[in-house]
Amino acid sequence: MSNDPGEQSALIETVVTTTGSDGVVNCAAMGVRWGEHELVFWPFDATRTLRNLRAHGEAVVHLTDDVLLFVQAALGHPQPPMVPAGAVAGSVITEANAWREIVVTEISPCESELPRSRVRARVVASGTGTQQPLGLCRARHAAVEASIVASRLSWLGAEHVSAELARLQELVDKTAGPRERAAMDYVRRHVAART
Ligand SMILES: Cc1cc2nc3c(=O)[nH]c(=O)nc-3n(C[C@H](O)[C@H](O)[C@H](O)COP(=O)(O)O)c2cc1C
Repeated sequence: MSNDPGEQSALIETVVTTTGSDGVVNCAAMGVRWGEHELVFWPFDATRTLRNLRAHGEAVVHLTDDVLLFVQAALGHPQPPMVPAGAVAGSVITEANAWREIVVTEISPCESELPRSRVRARVVASGTGTQQPLGLCRARHAAVEASIVASRLSWLGAEHVSAELARLQELVDKTAGPRERAAMDYVRRHVAART
């Protein structure tokens, strides 16, 4: 089996921390092809993540069950507790379940509706946090879906987004705990402020 993450691995939803030239750490939700030694992801050209990676090609990619942190990283600018990474000049989110420290090996343009680039990166260190993975949860997945729909509000349109949020809210109402409810509320407030 090939080790090329672009070919074989699932796209995992992560939170990527990068550092700006002003020293500010940016947290962004990002889908990543998760290989053992190499990760591939596709930041839009307008993102701070890509700008930071072009200036300073190191980052930390986190796996988290914290869906509120995830939706905030998709729609806002959270600053969760972080500590310096061990092998790169970057920041590790302390409450992540696991993380990988990466060094960018290639940034290339890629074909897509909106301008985005393909980033390949080598894993140089990894770690696990003290939080045990929580497992599958429909409400958590619903909040993740809601956040991606909300992040596409400008081209999906208010009516479509509102219908999707209503459908996903049913899953949250049935299966959420407080963190999932807070995440869905965050998404709804984000959309309400823009429609
Ligand atoms: C599930 C999910 C997956 C996402 N995947 C990507 C991605 O692959 N590339 C990207 O540029 N943005 C992605 N986003 C949107 C970014 O998280 C969002 O634009 C964020 O603000 C990143 O921008 P920044 O780097 O300027 O902070 C995703 C959002 C969600 C909810």
